[in-house]
Amino acid sequence: MKWLWVVAFVAPTCTVPYNGTAGSPGDNGDNGDRGRCALQHGTLGTLVLLRCPAAAGGPAEWRWGRTVLGTYPAPGLALPNASLAHEGHYSCHHPGTGETWATVCLQLGYPPALPAVECWAISYPQAVNCSWVLAPEPLLETHFVATYRHGVGGATEMGECVRTGPQSCSFGDLQMFSLTPYVVNVTAMNPLGSASRLLPFLLENIIKPDPPEDLRVSPIPGETKKLLVEWSPPGSWPFPQYFPLKYRIRYAQEGGSVTKTIGPYEQTSYTLTGVPPRTLHHIQVAAKDFTDSGEFSAWSLPASGMPWVEP
Ligand SMILES: *[C@@H]1O[C@H](CO)[C@@H](O)[C@H](O)[C@H]1NC(C)=O
Ligand SMILES: *[C@@H]1O[C@H](CO)[C@@H](O)[C@H](O)[C@H]1NC(C)=O
Ligand SMILES: *[C@@H]1O[C@H](CO)[C@@H](O)[C@H](O)[C@H]1NC(C)=O
Repeated sequence: MKWLWVVAFVAPTCTVPYNGTAGSPGDNGDNGDRGRCALQHGTLGTLVLLRCPAAAGGPAEWRWGRTVLGTYPAPGLALPNASLAHEGHYSCHHPGTGETWATVCLQLGYPPALPAVECWAISYPQAVNCSWVLAPEPLLETHFVATYRHGVGGATEMGECVRTGPQSCSFGDLQMFSLTPYVVNVTAMNPLGSASRLLPFLLENIIKPDPPEDLRVSPIPGETKKLLVEWSPPGSWPFPQYFPLKYRIRYAQEGGSVTKTIGPYEQTSYTLTGVPPRTLHHIQVAAKDFTDSGEFSAWSLPASGMPWVEP
């Protein structure tokens, strides 16, 4: 099970200061016995019930920090429509003597939503990179397990999708041109529940290079209507010599409203011709796998230039 890689991304808090609606000023709900409080988690916007087993079916006095809330019958203190303002340190007491029966630290949030997962082969055919988001944010400490599977029956390979960030992972050792989908499984877990998203894909369908880099636009001496555009393949594309890219160029004149897109071209430079003299042009480039698999990259950062002007 070494491929189960678990990371926490939200640190839990046990006590939350009063917001002034019920507590007395300066009372932060922390009685100094935080270590002995039983952590309880509840879902925001639902009815949350705090129980006092020691009351043995009888009434108990409830306090929130040092504020006495009142005496409530079994099964305990109900918080209808719990909100973040209800978090904090609760205790139940003998209604006569005030003896402390139990303390509860209440933390509120949401069970994890289904993770929205995206996977792209930005370094084809070396690796697949995946990332995910949860909406709404669960607000509680949430762990993720990310794995992948490929193949069926005895030929199934499974492995860890190795974490590259709190909500991203990557795996390699890929089988090119396989007609069996890869399936990525991202599971989010917190004290209120868990949710798994399975994302199946064929490797070649998710090829998407990063944008080209190092874009340069230069005048060509003696040419008043031409611009030389040069760029480099994305640094994350591992073997441009064996898996070439093709490129699209888009450009617009300074202050103009028309953007022209040309290409694709299978080289890393291009001479724009018929350019209006003495005008500044803004240019961007995008890349796609040469065999047309997958998608175009996002547009590169723009670069600008003006044709050569006779001195
Ligand atoms: C629950 O509380 C939220 C704010 O805390 C409020 O917007 C909502 O209307 C309440 N719902 C009910 C049913 O009282
Ligand atoms: C993609 O995965 C590689 C490891 O295979 C990692 O080095 C790189 O940082 C990842 N890229 C992104 C954008 O997460
Ligand atoms: C997805 O991963 C979770 C956590 O490892 C596991 O419990 C669940 O069974 C997996 N789902 C499938 C369909 O493989």
